[in-house]
Amino acid sequence: MNNTEELSKLRTEMKEVTGKIIQLVHTRMEIAKKIGTVKQNLSIDVEDEKVEKDIKDSVIKLAENLGMDLELSGRLLNLLLLESVRLQNDQVDSQKISPHVAIFMKAKEMEKKGKKILHLEVGEPDFPPPLSVKKELSKIYRNKNYHYTDLLGIPQLRAKIADTVGCGIKSDQVLVTPGGRFAVFCAITSLLKPGDELINIEPTWPAYKECADLIDVKTRTLRTSLNEKWNPNISKLEKLVNDNTKMIVLNYPNNPTGKILPQSILDKIISLAKDHKLFLLSDEVYSDYSFVDFNSVLQNEYDKKIMISSFSKTFGMTGFRVGYGIANKEIIGKMKGIQATSMTSVAEPMQYCAMAALGNDIKDNVDLIKSRIDLICNRIQKMKMKFLYPDGAMYVFTQINSGLETSDVVLVEKLLENNVAVAPGSGFGSNYKQFIRLSACQPEDVLNRGLDIIENYIE
Ligand SMILES: Cc1ncc(COP(=O)(O)O)c(C=O)c1O
Repeated sequence: MNNTEELSKLRTEMKEVTGKIIQLVHTRMEIAKKIGTVKQNLSIDVEDEKVEKDIKDSVIKLAENLGMDLELSGRLLNLLLLESVRLQNDQVDSQKISPHVAIFMKAKEMEKKGKKILHLEVGEPDFPPPLSVKKELSKIYRNKNYHYTDLLGIPQLRAKIADTVGCGIKSDQVLVTPGGRFAVFCAITSLLKPGDELINIEPTWPAYKECADLIDVKTRTLRTSLNEKWNPNISKLEKLVNDNTKMIVLNYPNNPTGKILPQSILDKIISLAKDHKLFLLSDEVYSDYSFVDFNSVLQNEYDKKIMISSFSKTFGMTGFRVGYGIANKEIIGKMKGIQATSMTSVAEPMQYCAMAALGNDIKDNVDLIKSRIDLICNRIQKMKMKFLYPDGAMYVFTQINSGLETSDVVLVEKLLENNVAVAPGSGFGSNYKQFIRLSACQPEDVLNRGLDIIENYIE
């Protein structure tokens, strides 16, 4: 057989094998659909990490026997798993909307009808940006600061951010983004590919998983508990790492618990990331609200770290949409690629406002949030709720009184009927249905009135 004949024969074989794969995938999806229906009948969660691990172990064994690339086989399996989860979630979604969405839609409806809702669920400071930002806003038009900018952000702002964070960071290691959220998006979408895995430590802000889901990256979850003071268990974390793991996400000070990791645990996580060459994405947007010592991952030499921060919480500038990512130049280059493709650059006027905000003394804001956290903690302590006093951030994550036989969503709905909105714990991880998050972003009288209603309800 000459080369041309051989090529044609191999192509025919390839077509047949591809057809068989597609047929098998179809069969797999049909089975997934049936499993979805049974799960619905049993009212059990769509995702089951134990079952997934069992399949993964058997696939890895098969790949080993075949002499196949383990990373590739794991990635293909993850894509199949994600597709089944999506299909099963769609089956559920077609029948009912998520309880969180339902609650917030209800709050909006109530407000439309003229009800006054006490918002203890909001994650946005109630204080205004510094006065220097107001002055800058009035200068922007005169100074014609309303153009496209350098894709990374205006050089003076990057230099000022580099100076502020210290740790020897240079301005070419800074990417200015529209909010910390978009810096997270740039990092996950530029560094990971479909079928890769990311490790998330729950409870946590839901955006990391949402972002991973969007690009078919599989999220592995390490759950922490109030009993263990929200400390991640390192040996459990280690067990989640496999050939497909590419990133660990940290969020400290944590939303919702306010936890800051003890240095010894942070060191162990960094060394685990180093040993397995994993990206370490550290979302530190609440670091200015630290009531105990906080050490940024930037203080560590590790080359695959990415630090995320923002002007939103520190300066009360959520609507300005300015945040940033800091990493080595290569990583920043990749993140810049996503930003350049999707939006060119952050709005120049907002970058000037961010520059005007940097350097302002924020002690009063931090003291204010801390005093409100004290108020919330004192009151819920009297209600005998279980919680860990936050090390930082703007929230108190508290277990619903154990005598109360109810889940977060039921309680949140009841509270809403009594005109107070709180965030359900399950929004930060499916294991936290016994928790609610109370935010310290409202004046004391609002907090007190909201807490009075909560107290009345649970008594
Ligand atoms: C942990 C965490 N990171 C990032 C953000 C988003 O911040 P930004 O307004 O800068 O996008 C939030 C917002 O609530 C958050 O809780």
